[in-house]
Amino acid sequence: MRILTVGGGGREHAAVEALYRSGAVIYAVMKNANPGIINRAEAYKLVDERSIDEICDFAIEHDVAHAFIGPEAPLEAGLVDALENIGVKCAAPNKSAARIETSKSFMRDLVSKYEIEGNIKYASFDNAEDAEKYLKAQTAEIVVKPIGLTGGKGVKVQGEQLHGHEETMSYILDILGTNGMGGVIIEEKLIGEEFTQMVFVDGKHIVPMPLVQDHKRAYEGDIGPNTGGMGSYSDANHLLPFVTEEAREKALDILENIVEAMRAEGCPYRGPMYGQFMLTKDGPKIIEINARFGDPEAMNVLPILESDFLALVKGMAAGKIKRDSVKFRDVATVCKYVVPKGYGTKPASGHEIRIDEDGIRDSGAEFFYGNVDMINGKLFTGTSRSIGVVGIGETIEEAERRCEIALGFIEGEAVCVRHDIGKLYMIQKKIDRIKNLLT
Ligand code: AMP
Ligand code: GLY
Repeated sequence: MRILTVGGGGREHAAVEALYRSGAVIYAVMKNANPGIINRAEAYKLVDERSIDEICDFAIEHDVAHAFIGPEAPLEAGLVDALENIGVKCAAPNKSAARIETSKSFMRDLVSKYEIEGNIKYASFDNAEDAEKYLKAQTAEIVVKPIGLTGGKGVKVQGEQLHGHEETMSYILDILGTNGMGGVIIEEKLIGEEFTQMVFVDGKHIVPMPLVQDHKRAYEGDIGPNTGGMGSYSDANHLLPFVTEEAREKALDILENIVEAMRAEGCPYRGPMYGQFMLTKDGPKIIEINARFGDPEAMNVLPILESDFLALVKGMAAGKIKRDSVKFRDVATVCKYVVPKGYGTKPASGHEIRIDEDGIRDSGAEFFYGNVDMINGKLFTGTSRSIGVVGIGETIEEAERRCEIALGFIEGEAVCVRHDIGKLYMIQKKIDRIKNLLT
């Protein structure tokens, strides 16, 4: 089966490996020369992932039947609509269904209209006066976000990246003054621990993946600017050490109700869906819903997927997936991203990284290339995350140890890693926080 893959990051490399394992013949488009994807592809093209015409021409030239699309930007640009017009079946939402991610106000309004649990207090604005009036009326801390896409980096939280009225208002003005952000949304600030619940969706049914916890902050100790995600872990029982089965079921109910609401709105959702939740003292609350796999979270779940990923991609596109046909290994994973120094603020791109692929393989860990370029046999950093390294083990502790051993096979003068991710003391801190919150 010939399949088109779109995207050149760690998430897409992990998806390409899973497709390759299930016998797919890969035709890849991406903006950077990702050596992991290139190695598995029959043919590839370097192109802006929103260049719909060029991607459709590539799909026709190689007679692909199905498409897997990793990032959100092509979804917003309408790539799925265009590919389906030329007969390519997509395991990804069309432009209208992708609004669940591309418009934060669409998501909140939908959840509110259908009275789905997990919503929070919010208001959207397209002008400064109304936003300021609302801001002045708030008695608790709030969060400010652009309504549109920002690559996970546009969110600022009062008490963390924002302090006081002046600074908050100045950020609101920044967003309102920038084209393409779609206005500003102000949300209640949630207190708790975050977790990611991803599901496969075929328009009607959801099939859950293991829970994952990402680390969005740039620096060790969960501080600093928000990033796309510095690393993530999952546990052998597919829950997290601080999330009960009951809390997880609530998160799954919320996602199931969203899928149902989208069908009722005439924009049925197909593809992987990403629910990001805050576990609060009142249960799981929605932080955001994304129209794709998470990155790095895809690198936790896809390497331990036992079922055939190509069959799942076909099933999502065709509107038929079955819960009992999807199996993941009962193992823990820890993923840490090697990123360019300054990632989150001013990334140092264009610097060489050296990797000993065999060393990592022999250590039993997995690795996925991200936003890097292979030029004349040498690997260079881009402006985003460079290489994801995944340790797998019976416990999080073992997976973390394996991940660290594998990281020793990557070096570069201008890269860094959050070594605290998956360490026992970090996990204990999260368990204690939830315990304190609930008592
Ligand atoms: P997002 O890009 O929406 O995932 O937001 C990035 C990060 O900002 C999240 O991982 C949270 O840590 C934080 N965040 C977003 N929305 C809220 C909220 N309503 N309350 C507290 N923190 C939030
Ligand atoms: N890891 C966060 C995201 O993919 O949005």
